[in-house]
Amino acid sequence: MDWGMKNRLARLVQPDGHCIFLPIDHGYFQGPTTKLEKPGETIKPLLPYFDALFVTRGVLRSAIDPENTKPIILRVSGGTSVVGKDLSHEGLTTSVKEALRLNASGVGISVFVGSEHERESLLNLAKLVDEGEEYGLPVMAVTAVGKEMEKREARYLALCCRIAAELGARIVKTYWCEGFEKVVNGCPVPVVIAGGPKVDTELEVFNFVYDGMEKGAIGVNLGRNIWQHDYPVAMVKALRAIIHENASPKQAHDIFRKEREKAVKALA
Ligand code: 5RP
Repeated sequence: MDWGMKNRLARLVQPDGHCIFLPIDHGYFQGPTTKLEKPGETIKPLLPYFDALFVTRGVLRSAIDPENTKPIILRVSGGTSVVGKDLSHEGLTTSVKEALRLNASGVGISVFVGSEHERESLLNLAKLVDEGEEYGLPVMAVTAVGKEMEKREARYLALCCRIAAELGARIVKTYWCEGFEKVVNGCPVPVVIAGGPKVDTELEVFNFVYDGMEKGAIGVNLGRNIWQHDYPVAMVKALRAIIHENASPKQAHDIFRKEREKAVKALA
């Protein structure tokens, strides 16, 4: 592996082999998502606790301080919206040249396996990998399900992750599911877990992240269950403990409760 590629991957994946990425890219098809209306303000208190930020160039330029030292994974696919015909009809929205100009440590693109635009999204991934590899820029493939959340099951996600890895993604982001080991075992490159829509309890998040890590994921790319939470700093600290300190869901929950208490007192 070339020095540039190794160096960029090392900025994203920490020396323990694990990572916690914070995605704030949702606006690229959802518009001003709840709690992400002002992304710069949302992430300010969270900055110290994650390893990289997943973001579009528009939000990066307008809301992120260039002197912020967190590595950037640039979202470079899009062109569709929640009110449009078909979320799977994405194209490449940002060039590799622009990603390098923005000093990105990686780029991210969605693939929509089984959708009407499967072929197009997979060929977009392959094209991005070709260009990224030329400049030492790792590609993270996002196995997107659009509005079909029921697709989050092992057989389908294993298929998506394997295809993304075969086409050259250096990291694959997918959803946690029952039987997650099938997904990780069939994928020859590192897998990170996405969060999906906000769930009811903190413990649910800690449980699925812990299970995913136990089954071989290297970390998370998890957004709404952190920044849509009333106590986002408590959430990110607890998740960081699972990912980087091997904390159990119960230990993570204890951290969460202590941090929440501190936050409540600070506001009183
Ligand atoms: C949005 C994305 C997000 O990065 C991904 O879904 C992770 O965020 P969340 O945990 O909120 O699902 O790709 O298109």
